[in-house]
Amino acid sequence: MEAASGIYEESETENTPTMPFDLERARRETPGCEQVLHFNNAGSALTTRPVLDAVIAHLQLEAQIGGYEAADQARAAVDRVYDAVAELIDCSPDEVAIVESATRAWDLAFYSISFQPGDRILTAMAEYASNYIAFLQVAKKTGAVVEVIPNDAAGQISIDALQNAIDERVKLIAITHVPTNGGLVNPVAEVGKIARQHGILYLVDACQSIGQMPIDVEQIGCDLLSATGRKYLRGPRGTGFLYVRNTVLEQLEPPFLDMHSATWLARDRYEIQPGARRFETFEANYAAKIGLGVAIDYVLQWDMATLWRRIKTLAYTLRARLSPLPDVIVRDRGVTQCGIVTFTVEDKSPQEIKSALSQQQINVTVTPRVATLLDMDARGLESAVRASVHYYNSEEEIERFCRAVEGLG
Ligand SMILES: Cc1ncc(COP(=O)(O)O)c(C=O)c1O
Repeated sequence: MEAASGIYEESETENTPTMPFDLERARRETPGCEQVLHFNNAGSALTTRPVLDAVIAHLQLEAQIGGYEAADQARAAVDRVYDAVAELIDCSPDEVAIVESATRAWDLAFYSISFQPGDRILTAMAEYASNYIAFLQVAKKTGAVVEVIPNDAAGQISIDALQNAIDERVKLIAITHVPTNGGLVNPVAEVGKIARQHGILYLVDACQSIGQMPIDVEQIGCDLLSATGRKYLRGPRGTGFLYVRNTVLEQLEPPFLDMHSATWLARDRYEIQPGARRFETFEANYAAKIGLGVAIDYVLQWDMATLWRRIKTLAYTLRARLSPLPDVIVRDRGVTQCGIVTFTVEDKSPQEIKSALSQQQINVTVTPRVATLLDMDARGLESAVRASVHYYNSEEEIERFCRAVEGLG
């Protein structure tokens, strides 16, 4: 079993000027705050009132005038989703595909890469199960090899080890920014520098980081980035997006094409759409897609640096309050630690803790070994409680949460 991890104070945004944070507004615009103490934001966050209203309004419009007609009428809101993503991550709207989940976004990118026998795929210890399973499948089919770069002493991907692993056979570096199983934030921009220096394709899974911290694809230096809508962006379930850098588009062959991603020109010919929308399909959940745009517009109204700082401060407070509790071990690693707080309690399974808290309208989840198998095995962990805070959570909720954990006896 690993020893208790260090609790690190927030680091690199410490000196970034931030705006005052309006908690009262954030909670007023989050209807679920009145029902639950929601520390499952890394699972699926509570949506905002504007998102809820936009999704319901579009569903009603579909019921009243028809689905295609409603989509036509809502054209501006649908187009806005691409602009909103572009503004959020600093890219061009034509580098964005809107899809149904982070997994689908990631798969679309990964399965578009043409691997040859001996090509190397470099990844990190805390890689997400779905991504790693895809690596294994593609390795089996193509003869590519999957290699896991070890962690440094703080638990994040070792930049030195990555640098040493580079040679001309490395086809792809694919890592998760914030792993599903804890507060770790991998140094994606440092990885990006190495990828750029060697001209290696670089795919970032930003599923848990998007909406939680500033994400800038130029600063990260990635070619591909996948994200979900329902977690820290507070969008509807069943939404996600893929960023594809314009300059790598032509190296990728989308694994599926349809009459939206391509145009049928003749008996023996089709033409693929320009831009990242070649990764989409004709059919989409328009209400959810519009909701995703509204969720991103909502976050853009706030100052991302301020939100990130608040999330880190809340998580820091939570770790600091949990650590001294009898039998509680906080499990988070990393130099920078985000809003995901994981812990275990001696002689109580994470599932028991989740169920007991749920009786008190407190939401957490359990992160299982198989979601991040390599990392969990290296740390001797079978599972952990995952309590993930968002900016709309309050200091009082942290107190109530810690009292509830303490009261589990
Ligand atoms: C790191 C990471 N990547 C990908 C996913 C999958 O996201 P989605 O369920 O939107 O496909 C998750 C889900 O928890 C995740 O934690």
